[in-house]
Amino acid sequence: MNRNIIITGGAGFIGSHVVCLFVNKYPDYHIINVDKLTYAGNLANLTDIENAPNYTFIKADICDFDKMVSLFAEYNIDGVIHLAAESHVDRSIKDPFTFAHTNVIGTLSLLQAAKNQWKGNYADKRFYHISTDEVYGSLQFDGTFFTEDTAYSPHSPYSASKASSDHFVRAFHDTYGMPTVITNCSNNYGPYQFPEKLIPLFINNIRHSKPLPVYGKGENVRDWLYVVDHARAIDVIFHEGKIAETYNIGGFNEWKNIDLIKVIVKTVDRLLGNPDGHSLRLITYVTDRAGHDLRYAIDSNKLKKELGWEPSLQFEEGIEETVRWYLDNQEWLDNITSGEYEKYYQEMYKG
Ligand code: NAD
Ligand code: TYD
Repeated sequence: MNRNIIITGGAGFIGSHVVCLFVNKYPDYHIINVDKLTYAGNLANLTDIENAPNYTFIKADICDFDKMVSLFAEYNIDGVIHLAAESHVDRSIKDPFTFAHTNVIGTLSLLQAAKNQWKGNYADKRFYHISTDEVYGSLQFDGTFFTEDTAYSPHSPYSASKASSDHFVRAFHDTYGMPTVITNCSNNYGPYQFPEKLIPLFINNIRHSKPLPVYGKGENVRDWLYVVDHARAIDVIFHEGKIAETYNIGGFNEWKNIDLIKVIVKTVDRLLGNPDGHSLRLITYVTDRAGHDLRYAIDSNKLKKELGWEPSLQFEEGIEETVRWYLDNQEWLDNITSGEYEKYYQEMYKG
């Protein structure tokens, strides 16, 4: 079946994996990647498919409603996979307005543009919104998990903005009958992640013998999922997920930050040929992140039971591949971490 699908945020970390998967797997689909190319967007993530005949890149801001309306009409869009967002918690603490604008108004702008285009004719249409487990708040060390029924309790400006966007998506289903689906995923890792997030930041800092800033005591827990497995889940849910449903996506792979950091240090040292434990000296405990959520853990059994998805990669394998990728793609890292980002990192972020 021919489909015209807008993927927003397709030049970012997860979006670029989703774009590549869809462009390669579905030659009959026209994939239109709409991305503003903020600091986090990078067309170098897409070189594998940039010349594919079923792929179009449009540089645009999702908050530009008139532009979204014209794109939906020009390409006769029947599907949306919405990933564009401001995504880093630390930036949201410094600049919450940008997060409210992009994540809330941007999502509303896309919903309204889809509504204008589809005019109540929702046959074969779909609006798929990608969200985060962070909307559920924080768990204690008590073995419980976030399920699809967990009440929203966001703590950071980032998670508050994502929670708000989720509510708008549900409102468009309940009010206008739009065929929506939402997924809430745990922390992703893998190639092409912007090196302000924990795993690529620490790999890069070890490479340059720079301090590894561990927030608080390093006891916070995250559930880590390989990004390619997330992209596979998005494919399954876009095609087979039930309308108006929510699915949690996770790896059943919880790691205390400090334990994960030690695995990263060990792997990078081994691959760089350093003696075992060489870079442990770089670990530096710093002031905790404000409002730092203690623990995230996702129960993704609904997705497994209803749609048969589960993670394909063991964490040990995924982390090895990831570290290798960053060490083999130092030019990609250096292009990002030089210039403006380096200034931001020094002066604002860790200053
Ligand atoms: P990212 O920051 O790497 O990429 C975001 C992309 O969105 C960039 O390409 C950026 O240029 C684009 N963008 C930002 N503002 C835009 C705007 N106004 N208009 C058009 N494009 C814009 O983010 P990511 O880590 O790939 O996350 C993608 C989505 O997945 C986000 O919605 C995020 O909330 C969600 N998510 C991320 C994770 C994770 O671990 N990274 C986990 C769960 C959910
Ligand atoms: P991050 O990659 O920013 O993802 P999120 O905040 O969305 O979970 O951070 C992952 C964990 O690592 C989180 O508990 C914060 C912690 N962290 C550090 O200890 N130091 C750092 O420099 C960064 C970026 C994160």
